[in-house]
Amino acid sequence: MKNFQNKKVVISGGGSGIGNAIINELYHKGTRDFAVIGRNVDKLKRLENDFPEAIFLLFQGDISKPNSIHEFVNVISNSWNTVDVLINNAGVVSAGSLESISDDDIVAQININVTGLILLTKHVLPLLKMSKEAAIVNVSSGLGLIGMPFYASYSATKGGVRLFSEAIRRELKDFPIQVITVYPTVTATPMMESAKTDAMDTPDLVAQQTIEGLQNNKIDVILGGDQRLEDVKKNINDPKEFDKKAATMYEALLERTSNHRSM
Ligand SMILES: NC(=O)c1ccc[n+]([C@@H]2O[C@H](COP(=O)([O-])OP(=O)(O)OC[C@H]3O[C@@H](n4cnc5c(N)ncnc54)[C@H](OP(=O)(O)O)[C@@H]3O)[C@@H](O)[C@H]2O)c1
Repeated sequence: MKNFQNKKVVISGGGSGIGNAIINELYHKGTRDFAVIGRNVDKLKRLENDFPEAIFLLFQGDISKPNSIHEFVNVISNSWNTVDVLINNAGVVSAGSLESISDDDIVAQININVTGLILLTKHVLPLLKMSKEAAIVNVSSGLGLIGMPFYASYSATKGGVRLFSEAIRRELKDFPIQVITVYPTVTATPMMESAKTDAMDTPDLVAQQTIEGLQNNKIDVILGGDQRLEDVKKNINDPKEFDKKAATMYEALLERTSNHRSM
């Protein structure tokens, strides 16, 4: 996808963080039509002030609830004949040792990060198929490429996003629908406020690389530089060797995740 003017964009969780930065990036490239779903109505309403020339379909809803998705997609199809870009960005994390994470948090992470993403894609797909040039952007995580201690349930959801992307890309081969997966590393957003970490990417960097990836017809956009790419390779080719690296990070991750929860 080279041009973002006159494109109709659906995004989950555009009210903050990476989703908000992606809206900003697209807005500056000329996109004006955005349909946004999120739970917090104040965050959604702020978009109208921040992007005054955009026309928003704002929908307060929870993507883990099928009814919310059905109603959101009804609102979209009552206003638009097509969707050009679907950005599956909404996500939550609850980190720590597996035994310390509540059952509710484990179920909610799966339902928001995976089930909601799959259902939103399913129900927006007929509108994407009406577009001459469409894209699906799925936001996974570096933890969807490499599982790390204290993120077992979150990693499972983001690995699920990775394989969903791969499968749906192959399923949609006969449609002009590009499927791209984004793997951010630690990024300074509200999600990371409760994690003890520094040296984070900015959400603007993630958004710029996402849009560049779309323009360059990439399948994957992996943040974190050459080191992350090397780690991904090592994790596939010699996972026992990578276990040793993960072990050196164990204490730091234990500390970082002692209170890391954004639900
Ligand atoms: N920040 C990082 O270090 C990092 C690293 C790798 C991957 N990611 C991924 O990047 C994506 C964006 O996260 P972020 O870092 O930008 O954090 P964020 O600012 O907390 O954004 C998450 C967004 O998702 C929305 N959301 C959460 N649950 C929802 C639900 N049930 N229904 C509808 N919307 C929901 C939130 O809006 P409401 O609260 O209003 O619902 C919020 O706008 C997530 O998928 C995350 O897993 C982040």
